[in-house]
Amino acid sequence: MAQLIDGKKISQEIKDELKEKVAELKEQGIEGALAVIQVGNDPASSVYVRNKKRACEYIGIRSESYELPEETTEDELLTLIETLNEDPKINGILCQLPVPVHMDENKIIRTIAPEKDVDGFHTQNVGALVVGQTGFVSCTPAGVIQLLKRSGIEIAGKHCVVVGRSNIVGKPMALLMLQENATVTICHSRTADLQSMCRQADILIVAVGKPKMITAEYVKEGATVIDVGIHRQENGKLCGDVDFEQVAPIAGAITPVPGGVGPMTIAMLMNNCVEAMTR
Ligand code: GUN
Repeated sequence: MAQLIDGKKISQEIKDELKEKVAELKEQGIEGALAVIQVGNDPASSVYVRNKKRACEYIGIRSESYELPEETTEDELLTLIETLNEDPKINGILCQLPVPVHMDENKIIRTIAPEKDVDGFHTQNVGALVVGQTGFVSCTPAGVIQLLKRSGIEIAGKHCVVVGRSNIVGKPMALLMLQENATVTICHSRTADLQSMCRQADILIVAVGKPKMITAEYVKEGATVIDVGIHRQENGKLCGDVDFEQVAPIAGAITPVPGGVGPMTIAMLMNNCVEAMTR
């Protein structure tokens, strides 16, 4: 049976480290606040937003909540973001995605000041990641790096296969693994013979959004398997993009769902908020 990579425990360690750091900053007179914007009331988004505000409370930074109705116009939202950009008491701004269909997501991301973009979605922050400069890094892929490092899994020189090419996970994930000196392959829905590509991975990172898609045939014996997916099954239980029952006996190390990558996203958001306070 594979080593279980415990995201719950590692995320708690990170939050406790950040809590200490926030207390130290407070002694120096530095206080932080995160503005959390949600437009509409998508139930999944409400859960994420609630957890983000809770994490702020835990580490000791203030959160300001902006719950806007579904009918909010794009201009109204952009005006709010511009006001928050100018507000010196706010270090971080987060607009929970997805926004309603009548809004242009890219325009919203572009409007958030890069130095307050704790999600790491702004093109300036993405560009900084590409060229290896300092900027905010997207929270989920940054969390995966922490999971690997804090579980003692060597990255340098390993062949990492990333399945998925989204702007939020797949692309930044590949860049971060490259920065850690892995040899990186990016696969996606149009990849020919995905199975044999995945079987070459020492570290397989899956972010495709398809329940239990990665079965035993996709995994080399002893590989590290990181599952970014999360889905609610018909029986009410959660599962990932990886068929855990099939893959765990083959893998060298694996993340469970829930309790793997999920809790790391919020821990890394908190990390970015603390960074925003100190920059
Ligand atoms: N929606 C899904 N994931 C995220 C995230 O990491 N940040 C924001 N703002 N919205 C999301």
